[in-house]
Amino acid sequence: MTEILSVTPLRPELQAELEARFTVHRLDQAEDRDAFLGAKGAAVRGLVTDGGQKIDEAFLARLPALEFLSCASAGYDGIDIAELKRRGIRMGNVSPALEDDVADTAILLLMAARRDLPRAHHHVTSGAWAEGSYPLQHSFTGGRLGIAGMGRIGQAVARRAEGFGKEIGYLARSDKPGAPGRRFADLAELAAWADDLIVCLPGGEETRHMISAEVMAALGPEGILVNVGRGSVVDEAALIAALTEGRLGAAGLDVFANEPKPDPALVTLPNVTCYPHHASGTVEARGAMARMALDNVLAYFDGRPLPHEVTL
Ligand code: DGY
Repeated sequence: MTEILSVTPLRPELQAELEARFTVHRLDQAEDRDAFLGAKGAAVRGLVTDGGQKIDEAFLARLPALEFLSCASAGYDGIDIAELKRRGIRMGNVSPALEDDVADTAILLLMAARRDLPRAHHHVTSGAWAEGSYPLQHSFTGGRLGIAGMGRIGQAVARRAEGFGKEIGYLARSDKPGAPGRRFADLAELAAWADDLIVCLPGGEETRHMISAEVMAALGPEGILVNVGRGSVVDEAALIAALTEGRLGAAGLDVFANEPKPDPALVTLPNVTCYPHHASGTVEARGAMARMALDNVLAYFDGRPLPHEVTL
């Protein structure tokens, strides 16, 4: 039977399906990972992992027969893509399975920040309401929304935002056929044009701190920054300074530089709405993600087109 290395297990019923079809080596259950890789690695042809695991060149070198990697998340910042490419290893991921829930969460965070939901909630629960009504807020419907990262998730955000009457601008190197709105090649220009900015960019060195002090300044004191991409994309020190000094209006954050212990100086700010990297945290999305991760492996080893292949 084809041998698979399981770095992070799928949901129990799908893991059972994987184990019924292949010989599966559970690295997550190994006491000595190094010895386990030494004993099992040579025959492994398939790898199932999530994209946060460190799958670097040295790790991949332990798997000389590897042909296919199934990434059970949308993000794959822990995986050495250049090395996969160099070795001709194909990869599937699960972006289509979570794009709707992540896009919903982006809108949720933007709307919560725009209408000041966390403080308004506290206004009710603390009894402060009896002392006076809550200050007027700004409308969510209408205005200009910038989207940094116009992949599947960015486009799902754009579809929703159009329903709220928003004008869309997006950052991309080239036009995205079928994507609504105006393309910007420069992030600071997009931020200056937009009222609010939703970040859907992947992590990694290429995007590190792309949301810089300059971008925040361009967004301005009324602007809202939402991040459903990766924490590393935002310069958090600059974000704390901009939010504290009123140079940026508010932020809605699903992802943080240091998870699961985000910087208290950031998350306790009154103009920050937080979610615990849980945009895909629904029964529906997580079920579909695990299913797609398994279906990618099955399709690869059956010689069928993958449900979702990443072009490396
Ligand atoms: C992903 O799949 O990359 C999302 O961030 C959920 O973890």
